[in-house]
Amino acid sequence: MNNVQVFNAYDRQTDLKAFHNTKLGVKGLVDSGVTQIPRIFSHDDQSPSLISSPAAAVAEKLAGETEAKNLAIPVIDLQQTHKNRAKIINEIREASENWGFFQILNHGVPLPVMKEMMNGIRRFHEQDGEMKKDIYSRDFQRKILFNTNFDLFKGVSTNWRDTLTVVVAPHGVEPEEIPAVSREAILDFSRRVKELGDILLEFLSEGLGVAPNRLKELGCGEGMVMFCHYYPPCPQPELTWGTTDHTDGCFLTVLLQDDFGGLQVRHGDRWVDVHPIEGAFVVNIGDFMQLMSNDRFKSVNHRVLANKGGPRISVASFFRCNLPPENGLVFGPLKELRSEENPDIYRETSIKDYVAHYYQKGLNGISALEHFKL
Ligand code: OGA
Ligand code: NI
Repeated sequence: MNNVQVFNAYDRQTDLKAFHNTKLGVKGLVDSGVTQIPRIFSHDDQSPSLISSPAAAVAEKLAGETEAKNLAIPVIDLQQTHKNRAKIINEIREASENWGFFQILNHGVPLPVMKEMMNGIRRFHEQDGEMKKDIYSRDFQRKILFNTNFDLFKGVSTNWRDTLTVVVAPHGVEPEEIPAVSREAILDFSRRVKELGDILLEFLSEGLGVAPNRLKELGCGEGMVMFCHYYPPCPQPELTWGTTDHTDGCFLTVLLQDDFGGLQVRHGDRWVDVHPIEGAFVVNIGDFMQLMSNDRFKSVNHRVLANKGGPRISVASFFRCNLPPENGLVFGPLKELRSEENPDIYRETSIKDYVAHYYQKGLNGISALEHFKL
């Protein structure tokens, strides 16, 4: 490394610390009236993602508009009648194998609960900055914290996004620790999404052809943590990301998004927009589900574009313990799926080792799963 690079690397850390110390996040920058993004947010072209900058992403989106229009992640109606269960399982299986992403309707969480969650998260992020400073933290031992990018000091470039993180289970946050502006909304919504998680795990188990309660009994639905994102309007969206290209480090993600758009999913050699549908959740397969299904279900890369408009709000509920349990439990490819033609692709891995690797690596477009291949 030459001296110039060393100087730059040092400088970035200084800028990151200064930004971290404001405790006001990206929203604080926008409120202060910035017209240019600070350089920590500027996209670094060394990203290994296939399309290397938001400007290129926008250009390629425009070029491929007609083709991309015909592509959309599957939308699955979970409304059960006495004879359509097999159809639902089949749709979920196909979507998990071919897309790793789908949207669900009639999932049992009432629309007013979803809307009030969005309102509650907006109230949190848009309240006086001083109120948020108290919980600004990068200490993931805490059950509730506010910050900009969990990987601020690791990621290749900083994302234009603030996040309220809430640990729901096991041993979730005490209700009185949740900021009053969003307390009821978070408690009601999280309880219902937790129940939905169990339903989805049952469908996924059946989709894999293992016992319906298999994934639940292994504990895939026990841990739940919510990342409540706020993507403020960005003055130079072509220079940064809302969220860098990544896969999710969990079993399963249930995402609530507003009607703004900007989430894109990798499908073959294209990025496909996830069109907002009122009342729907976006569900995606996480790395641990790909590992346990021995690559049958896909944990697919996705990203969020920064935007001049907005703010955009989304809530990602990750099914995984936030802090890895100390129980030494390991997860590997399900033994029922093992055969001569389908030998294990991954070694058994504890959530602790996996999370340590994921956090140490930061979001960089490379799947953390690569590290655990046999
Ligand atoms: C995530 C994520 C997408 C979104 O939090 O992992 O991919 O729309 N979020 O905010
Ligand atoms: Ni994600």
